[in-house]
Amino acid sequence: MAKITFITRNDEHYILEADSGSLMELAVQNGVDGIDGDCGGVCSCATCHVHVNTEHMEKVGAASEIEQDMLELDDNATAQSRLCCQIDVSDELDGLVVRVAR
Ligand code: FES
Repeated sequence: MAKITFITRNDEHYILEADSGSLMELAVQNGVDGIDGDCGGVCSCATCHVHVNTEHMEKVGAASEIEQDMLELDDNATAQSRLCCQIDVSDELDGLVVRVAR
């Protein structure tokens, strides 16, 4: 079981628990504002863009080439950007904090 914190653009904190699925699914199921998941998680919409806390970047791992291509189209992308449909929940992610991108 991993506890994951989403911080919305309005600074609302959602502290959610899961043991499977993607971060996007977890966010959508719990109504996290700003995470829409329009493409259903196939890495083609970028409506699940988050910024991962710097100290958690290693845990989360690098974006795939397809994901990087999608992020390059987003003006708000930074070195901490990930599409959270591409991050699977696992015990190792316990304590992860992500911020919903603008
Ligand atoms: S849900 Fe579409 S790219 Fe993540």
